[in-house]
Amino acid sequence: MEKRQQIYEGKAKKVYATDDSRFVIVSYKDDATALDGLKKGTIAGKGAINNRMSNFLMRLLEKHGVPTHFVDELNDRETVVKKVSIVPLEVIIRNVSAGSFAKRFGVEEGIVFESPTIEFSYKNDELHDPLMNSYHAIALKVATREEIEYIKELAFKVNEVLKEYFLSLDVRLIDFKLEFGKLEDGTIVLADEISPDTCRFWDAVTNEKLDKDRFRRDMGGVEDAYKEMMHRVLGE
Ligand code: TMP
Ligand code: ASP
Repeated sequence: MEKRQQIYEGKAKKVYATDDSRFVIVSYKDDATALDGLKKGTIAGKGAINNRMSNFLMRLLEKHGVPTHFVDELNDRETVVKKVSIVPLEVIIRNVSAGSFAKRFGVEEGIVFESPTIEFSYKNDELHDPLMNSYHAIALKVATREEIEYIKELAFKVNEVLKEYFLSLDVRLIDFKLEFGKLEDGTIVLADEISPDTCRFWDAVTNEKLDKDRFRRDMGGVEDAYKEMMHRVLGE
């Protein structure tokens, strides 16, 4: 497959066209942002870690029956994925209170939920990704009722598979964000990435944070946390 012109640049990835209109190539950057792009930095080695970890997890999910955009890892930073139109919803699953949930409801981080929660945010940096319920999404034609039901089903399935997998690495999956995309024929598949940028990972023994919160909260040890997660997942 031949890489053609860049068609999009986001905060953490670039997307290139290919000579086959069904596929695009994503290229992961070391750039990191927080607060809707207000806080900017770089995390050395992050692009390669997120690319490889995300691909590994997408393959694992495919084995468990979750359809994804993943096609082929080209090198450390670049991957061929199916071309989708992204459903502009950030789908957030939480197993334990943290981050904006803890803030919004005035509770501490670390409360273990009996059942996972799900919420949607409308993907729009200018509006600061506002919370959006399924009725809002249907009203604004962001997705149909059936698509939302299917997305919810897939998101909870992803949680079950990943929660168990990470626990086997002594990592607690606290919460995470997923994005879904639509293929030309309307089929919905899991898209974007699954990485320390988009998940909260706490060490199962010490509760040490092993994710982007170290960058968001200026905690230091950011690169080491990404490397540690890479080591646990890929053994390198
Ligand atoms: P939150 O607690 O800040 O709402 O974040 C919930 C999860 O979503 C957390 O694992 C981090 C992830 N996330 C993203 O992937 N992108 C974002 O822009 C935000 C705000 C959170
Ligand atoms: N990626 C998000 C942004 O820059 C923020 C985050 O992950 O916290 O807005």
